[in-house]
Amino acid sequence: MRTKAPSSVRNQEKHLDKGLALYSKKLTLFPALTEVLKNLDTIPESDDLKIYKRERRKAVLLMKRPNNEGGSLVIKGFPLMKFSNQIRPGRFGQMEAHNMLQAEQHGIKSPRYLGFFEFRKFGLTKANGVIMEPLGSHKTLMEFAEDNSADAEKAFNLAIPTIAKLYRLGTNHIDVSPHNIMAENLDDLPYLIDWQACRFIGPKNDRQLILQGAQFLRYLNNVFPLTSQKKWLSTLYRTVTPGIPEDLFLKNSIHYAHQPRPSHEFRYRLDFDLNQVQTF
Ligand SMILES: Nc1ncnc2c1ncn2[C@@H]1O[C@H](COP(=O)(O)OP(=O)(O)OP(=O)(O)O)[C@@H](O)[C@H]1O
Ligand SMILES: [Mg+2]
Repeated sequence: MRTKAPSSVRNQEKHLDKGLALYSKKLTLFPALTEVLKNLDTIPESDDLKIYKRERRKAVLLMKRPNNEGGSLVIKGFPLMKFSNQIRPGRFGQMEAHNMLQAEQHGIKSPRYLGFFEFRKFGLTKANGVIMEPLGSHKTLMEFAEDNSADAEKAFNLAIPTIAKLYRLGTNHIDVSPHNIMAENLDDLPYLIDWQACRFIGPKNDRQLILQGAQFLRYLNNVFPLTSQKKWLSTLYRTVTPGIPEDLFLKNSIHYAHQPRPSHEFRYRLDFDLNQVQTF
């Protein structure tokens, strides 16, 4: 059975080369790019290729565009090791692609999506992923805070308009963290990245806002004291004006920020009891 890209991604199948398919109007599949897409987990760094992140199940690479096209590409690919994922690859690269396209349609600032690829062998999907534009000289909000602690409050406040927009649109990106928001400076609206785990649910949902605020604060215990975290949450609350009282919002957000991270399932369901949380 041939795996198909989701309809929103099934733009143009540009090329088929021994199992490699690229769905993009904007990209040409040169041999150098083919080589990278087929060997995400082993390809070494070089003058033309930088590794942003590589783990067993994911690689984020920056590659110079081949054949002197000029500029670079970011490839976020998922090498699929498990047979169960190889026969059902949908929640990896396809989700990232699908959600990036939805984000673009909703006007959420995110890296420009360029295409979706998949690599198949013997009928199994060995890898899939997205290709996007690099954000150039950007840093994550976490990097801003770590590079200069005087910038921490400003950097973290920069996430608030983005989270407010997700709230208004009912966009349940479940990994809104200081590592997944990137900016060139601390004055412009930043970019939200890492779209694999997200549902476009609409309409507004106060529980989504609580869990996104909590997810953001989860990483800040060492760089942002509790009083600053509460101040940040109050600013978020006043920016968004959700339908629940502020103390209930703060209590739940602080609670989930200091708990082990709830499961994906819990963060998508958004049906937890707001009145069960006792501590503050
Ligand atoms: N378009 C881009 N331009 C520049 N850098 C990027 C871009 N996309 C990703 N990066 C860099 O690569 C890193 C990893 O990317 P991303 O957050 O999408 O994957 P991930 O962190 O591995 O996913 P997860 O958070 O689910 O583990 C980012 O923190 C960022 O430094
Ligand atoms: Mg990330």
